[in-house]
Amino acid sequence: MTDASSRPAPALPDVHALLALCEHAARRAGVVTVADRPRDLSVASTKSSPTDVVTEMDRRTETLLREILSAARPQDGLLGEEQGHETGSSGLTWVFDPIDGTVNYLYDIGVYAVSVAVVEGDPAVEGGWRPVAGCVHNPVTGATWTAGRGIGAFLDGRRLTMGEPPALDRALTGTGFGYFTGRRRTQARVVADLLPRVRDIRRIGCAAIDLCMVATGRLDVYFERGLHAWDLAAALLVVEEAGGVVRGIGGKPPAEAMVVAGARPLVDVLAAALEELDADGDDEPAPGGAQD
Ligand code: IPD
Ligand code: CA
Repeated sequence: MTDASSRPAPALPDVHALLALCEHAARRAGVVTVADRPRDLSVASTKSSPTDVVTEMDRRTETLLREILSAARPQDGLLGEEQGHETGSSGLTWVFDPIDGTVNYLYDIGVYAVSVAVVEGDPAVEGGWRPVAGCVHNPVTGATWTAGRGIGAFLDGRRLTMGEPPALDRALTGTGFGYFTGRRRTQARVVADLLPRVRDIRRIGCAAIDLCMVATGRLDVYFERGLHAWDLAAALLVVEEAGGVVRGIGGKPPAEAMVVAGARPLVDVLAAALEELDADGDDEPAPGGAQD
């Protein structure tokens, strides 16, 4: 009989090899999003609301990512935005968004990303997972952010180190909006309060790139309600490995209720302001009680 202390510790994942696979998959998928984008690309279907769109390219790109990742690591789980969660047996799960910034992609605005991460834990449980490696790749500009736990964050191979942040009133602040009208009412109220208190607001349209821009110093801070693990997993690690913080508000982890990212102390000042504004509270009802 062996007790727990005499069992061998589980092997640590080889972060460099996992990161190489993240980048390989993201780049291969990125080529397809550019080369095969139909000129007359249209909405294939809608999801949570009429503004939450999917194109045929989101689906095709996700299928390709699944093929690449499951061929290389058949024992790992897979969680993608369009085709859901397949659990694995290794304790690692690949969490990916084939096209983050689908509305930009639909309108041929070249700000979208393929986001690929591998996480430990259960990505279906809020706060129950931790990224090990991740890559956010913009196939139009070629910008490629990579990060591995304990090995740092990089943009096109150049190490990222976040500097001292400005005060809130000098902070270029990124955010995004969800697809439900009730949620957008809440988000509009929060932005209306914050806009006079910051340098300016940016709504770039791709959460993974927003987060990576924080790591790169192109935004000072970022917040958004409504992100999912596939929007967050790779870029969260980029911010953390660049020396920043990704947190929730009200003592909660970064999750669907709220994500705030930046360097301390700015990130904590913005988180406190968002808490005061009840930015992660119930979404506002539509006028007359109508539903989305
Ligand atoms: C969306 C984008 C957008 C953010 C939304 C996300 P999608 O992802 O990242 O910037 O504001 O919350 O859902 O739908 O394009 O994959
Ligand atoms: Ca997406």
